[in-house]
Amino acid sequence: MSRCQIISLPDLSKARNRQDGASVKYDEAVYSDALRFFAKGRKYLVKTFGCQGNVRDEEVISGYLEKAGFSKTTDEKAANIVIINTCAVRENAEDKVYGEIGKFKANAKTDKDFILGVCGCMMQEENKAESLIKTYPFIRLIFGTHNIADLPSMLDRVISSHQGLVDVISYPGDVIENLPSIRLDPYKAFVNISYGCDKFCTYCIVPYTRGRERSRPLQSILDECRKLIEDGYQEITLLGQNVNSYGKDFHDGTNFATVLEEVAKLGIPRLRFTTSHPWDFSLDMLDTIAKYPNIMKCIHLPVQSGSTAVLRQMGRRYTREQYLDLVKAIRERMPECAITTDIIVGFPNETEEQFAETLTLCQELKYDAAFTFIYSPRAGTPAAKMVDNVSDEVKHERFNRLLKVVEEGVVYHSSKMVGKAYDVLVDGPSKKNEAILSGYTESNKLVNFPGPVYLKGHIVKVKITENHAFSMLGQLEEDPVDVLLRSASEKLKQEPAYIQYLAAKKVFEEDKELQAALHEKEAAQKALALSMGSEDYENKKAAFAKISAFVDNNPNYINFVSSTADLRDLFAEMKALLQ
Ligand code: SAH
Ligand code: SF4
Ligand code: F3S
Repeated sequence: MSRCQIISLPDLSKARNRQDGASVKYDEAVYSDALRFFAKGRKYLVKTFGCQGNVRDEEVISGYLEKAGFSKTTDEKAANIVIINTCAVRENAEDKVYGEIGKFKANAKTDKDFILGVCGCMMQEENKAESLIKTYPFIRLIFGTHNIADLPSMLDRVISSHQGLVDVISYPGDVIENLPSIRLDPYKAFVNISYGCDKFCTYCIVPYTRGRERSRPLQSILDECRKLIEDGYQEITLLGQNVNSYGKDFHDGTNFATVLEEVAKLGIPRLRFTTSHPWDFSLDMLDTIAKYPNIMKCIHLPVQSGSTAVLRQMGRRYTREQYLDLVKAIRERMPECAITTDIIVGFPNETEEQFAETLTLCQELKYDAAFTFIYSPRAGTPAAKMVDNVSDEVKHERFNRLLKVVEEGVVYHSSKMVGKAYDVLVDGPSKKNEAILSGYTESNKLVNFPGPVYLKGHIVKVKITENHAFSMLGQLEEDPVDVLLRSASEKLKQEPAYIQYLAAKKVFEEDKELQAALHEKEAAQKALALSMGSEDYENKKAAFAKISAFVDNNPNYINFVSSTADLRDLFAEMKALLQ
């Protein structure tokens, strides 16, 4: 412990605090000369566990590391700095972390400057940091979810003091903008719309590890999305623990429907969002989802339990009936909308009858997919204090029964897909077979099909040929070259030269005086040709020169001609690229 400087440790009673409001700050990290010197030529690796929020944090952590001068590696042995980004949502998520940390002991042995950092939700739990540095003395940095933006200064201290550093803050949290970021995927992006959670479901650690629910300013979200679209992104997923409560903290009427609509209007081909809490889901939001074809008809709507009594114990704030009504409202507006869910089995004292209510709910609703979990007590949460009379054996047995019912729903939907064609956003070659491409449908169904690698990042039509329940086999329904042409034409329409050309053309066509002069010029040219060899020739020549000069000096004409030339240059450039 003496080798480690402890700046602060987490405190769940502070993490519970929801009193003062959040403020918006801007990233102002300072990269010291010592850090830049150290980073030069050294490689980093970030390993992430947990939800999409953590994946997005990895991108920000990578952003800081690259700004400092580190370069990325995927080779664990070659890494000079490794950051393990942890999850605390269930015990098994934590168990994986211990194994992962152990793996890097060898790096620390061979490289005296090796830095192992551990961060994320697990570090926000009480006693975790202390026990980690005892068990794994080669850990050199521990930080939490609230101080990622301090990474450059924390690294500077680690490098210059040759001591370890623990700095985990428990506080409600702010919003930090202008964060650096290295995106993990070139076509699909996560965009945070809110952080934290105020729901305090009784089993859940997230409100303690992530702080209060705070929304990002709408303009910051839109700026980030605009940039992604410019960079060729095909899919944006709006992220929040409860996206549906977006904007509540602004008290100005801005809500999730607003942000959905504004982002959809920017024109991203695919817009998704997660996670939706049933309690905050308004019919307005459903209408917005239904209205825009680029908002994917796919809603992740965690139910957790089908029993109203258990839901009350969980602090979920809706009943079984209210949940069913919400699903009915979704299906009335969007019959094809996929609905997926999360379910917890074995909440303390869950009776067989209560569990059976979860089964009947799943049978009735037939989810497109469901993530199922056995309840895992989390220290500091109210449920962890409940005396539980259900044995592990019973919980496992229930879990297996639930899996069967969930699978029936999955197969019900997937079997209906066979023979139909779907739009698939291609991720690239499938993990198992290089010759096969894989991607996802609007309903988030994984589809594998043969096709050329260059279709990566394109949305293509695929006909489903075989149903494998959790993934589908398909065949391309269109010529891959047509896909490229379509996408090239879409890209062309976003080129500034093309947009300028269209604007100049409009002004050119609407300038009545110019159009009349053009007609006059045409007539004068004809008259000049006819007068060739006659005595009127000089007069006609002068008339033609006059009207030509008028046209040539018209700014709208000049603009149109030059924007047409720019467009031709663009075509020439594109042709050169294709050769
Ligand atoms: N904010 C989201 C997701 C939170 S965590 C929501 O409210 O739905 C993702 C899922 O993990 C939850 O939906 C829940 O099903 C599960 N989960 C959370 N805490 C858990 C615990 N203590 N034990 C088992 N599963 C848990
Ligand atoms: Fe956890 Fe409930 Fe918040 Fe979801 S809504 S993050 S389950 S407390
Ligand atoms: Fe895990 Fe934290 Fe996400 S606990 S699920 S990484 S918010």
